[in-house]
Amino acid sequence: MKLCGKSVLLVVSGGIAAYKALELIRLLRKEGAGVRCILTAAARQFVTPLSVSALSEEKVYGELFSLTDEAEMGHIQLSRSADLVVVAPATADLLAKLTHGLADDLASTALLATDKPVLAAPAMNVRMWQHPATQANLASLRQRGTLFVGPDEGAMACGEFGPGRMAEPAAILEAVEAFFAPAARPLQGRRALVTSGPTYEPIDPVRFIGNRSSGKQGHAIAAALAAAGAQVTLVSGPVALPDPPGVDVRRVETAAEMLEACRASLPADVAVCAAAVADWRVAASAPQKLKKGPGGPPALTFAENPDILATLSQPGPQRPRLVVGFAAETERVVEQATAKRLRKGCDWILANDVSPATGTFGGDSNLIHLIDARGSESWPVLSKAAVAERLAGRIAATLAEAEENVSS
Ligand code: PMT
Repeated sequence: MKLCGKSVLLVVSGGIAAYKALELIRLLRKEGAGVRCILTAAARQFVTPLSVSALSEEKVYGELFSLTDEAEMGHIQLSRSADLVVVAPATADLLAKLTHGLADDLASTALLATDKPVLAAPAMNVRMWQHPATQANLASLRQRGTLFVGPDEGAMACGEFGPGRMAEPAAILEAVEAFFAPAARPLQGRRALVTSGPTYEPIDPVRFIGNRSSGKQGHAIAAALAAAGAQVTLVSGPVALPDPPGVDVRRVETAAEMLEACRASLPADVAVCAAAVADWRVAASAPQKLKKGPGGPPALTFAENPDILATLSQPGPQRPRLVVGFAAETERVVEQATAKRLRKGCDWILANDVSPATGTFGGDSNLIHLIDARGSESWPVLSKAAVAERLAGRIAATLAEAEENVSS
């Protein structure tokens, strides 16, 4: 029984493939997983709560405003009590709701409220699957760390042919098992600290100095490390991104607050500093809003901010075994980043060109040069999620190697 001790929240939305959810519940139970189910109103047109309850041996949930359910287990608790949330079938409608953060029934509310990874098995008509709106939704969900299995290609209930059939229950079970397999979680038991986003340094109570970091790269790294099994603390500057699933997020504004939150998150096995931290702050920010006046614009004096990466890299008992920095450069990228690695004392630097033409700030892809003590290695242009996955794999291999060297 490969899933003994694991618990799954299965969200069944309304499509003809909902009947396959019954077989999925049976397979999950056979492998030892605990299964709680949410049925949308549309799903109840295809399968009955009675069969779902009989197979899962659990109460079935469906009402957002059920006094009994809220008294027994509130929808927030329901969304967080499982190790993994599986959506099968995931209709175009539910995926769109998840993308846009709609929460108008129990299923969409639980998906919005959960802090656990989500694995979705899409099922819909081929045209609906191929529609640019659905494809854009999928891209944005993938970017946020949602996992997918399927869909398969073949003849559909509506008579058309193509991709859109829900993956078979056995394939969904396999994806669930792969998620829980130790090989898929090589960072299980490790602690990771990630910084992400910009810092805002106040000029006065209403103005600040910031930068163009969106947090996409740092958040993707936190999500990838968590998906690989690490216990991740993400210290984030102000961003407009949702929290990555399964990650403990600490929100800060200034570099000083970021340093404080990083210190409080130690010890960690690995630290990845992807935040675009302001090098300087206004030495004495004004307590009241600065006013225009006859004296002309205010003369701002700057003070240097603490360097978080250099601080975390300092030798000592609190130093993470692996410290990874980024270098945001606009010219002589590898040369400058190589010097930066030595100056800051970190183990690796991921150098990226942030000239406006590259679109690195705020964009969805990145071109990385990984620099370590041995030299530099250039990666192809990858999505930020793929950069994060590659980095997480590299971190896992390096930590495992370091452990082997110590024990041999
Ligand atoms: O957020 P996105 O829009 O996805 O964009 C991603 C990114 C371009 C912000 C990211 O890939 C990146 O390059 N992050 C580092 C940005 C930066 O501040 O680089 P830097 O070369 O100025 O700093 C070098 C390193 O020192 C970085 O790891 C930085 O986090 C760290 N640093 C810098 C200053 C400071 N006071 N403290 C620090 O810890």
